[in-house]
Amino acid sequence: GRRVTVRDLAAAKQRGERWPMVTAYDAMTARVFDAAGIPVLLVGDSAAMVVYGYDSTLPVTVDDLLPLTAAVVRGSSRALVVADLPFGSYQTSPGQALESAARFMKEAGAHAVKLEGGRRIAPQVEALVSAGVPVMAHLGLTPQSVNVFGGYRVQGRGAAGDELMADAKDLQRAGAFSVVLECVPADLAERVTASLDIPTVGIGAGPATDAQVLVWQDMVGLTPRPARFVKRYADLGADLDRAARAFAADVVSGSFPGPEHAYT
Ligand code: KIV
Ligand code: NA
Repeated sequence: GRRVTVRDLAAAKQRGERWPMVTAYDAMTARVFDAAGIPVLLVGDSAAMVVYGYDSTLPVTVDDLLPLTAAVVRGSSRALVVADLPFGSYQTSPGQALESAARFMKEAGAHAVKLEGGRRIAPQVEALVSAGVPVMAHLGLTPQSVNVFGGYRVQGRGAAGDELMADAKDLQRAGAFSVVLECVPADLAERVTASLDIPTVGIGAGPATDAQVLVWQDMVGLTPRPARFVKRYADLGADLDRAARAFAADVVSGSFPGPEHAYT
């Protein structure tokens, strides 16, 4: 079968159908999520934290993310693969945004890109879309701005909600095919979702958005202290810990490998 496209996602909103998105950073997990029917995979700059071990998303580069994106594209066959443009790779100008996005499309095979910010990056969105690059926008708690926010906290409360609504409409007008709403009050996400023709993707934004996204390591219990908005669907952290301890004990005791694991 063919890949999911941005047109399919627009049609889903028309039909009132919700859809899931998860992050992926390698071919094996991409294959699992793709086979499970997840229609959109995001190679998030959250890789800075969950893959590269930084304590924010700021240090990760295009060169860091390109091979992860290529792996996710190779590992999937149905999903639309969205690549995050990292901090510093698009803010300077529409031209810089297009150069970065073109690398993700040409060198890694991404099908769309995502970037953070409101109306100030609408010129970037316009330039990308007119060059043929589908753009997912990202509003609310945009982690590349953590130093402006002074921490990872809810955004869009009170008057800031009207600003966020205006940003969302400007990004839609600029041609974005979707917008992520991160860590915003549920009632604001509901109003934005109802006001836009393009699908909203919530994370910590309540139940009313058209889609939901989680970082896969959060979803399966690999991250030690996940945020309130995370639901755990597995306990892989505990499973991996048990496996590592059992393997270590077997090696020390000599009970692994057994005869069934050896060649005559
Ligand atoms: O980088 C990321 O994982 C993201 C999602 C959480 C939306 O931007
Ligand atoms: Na991101």
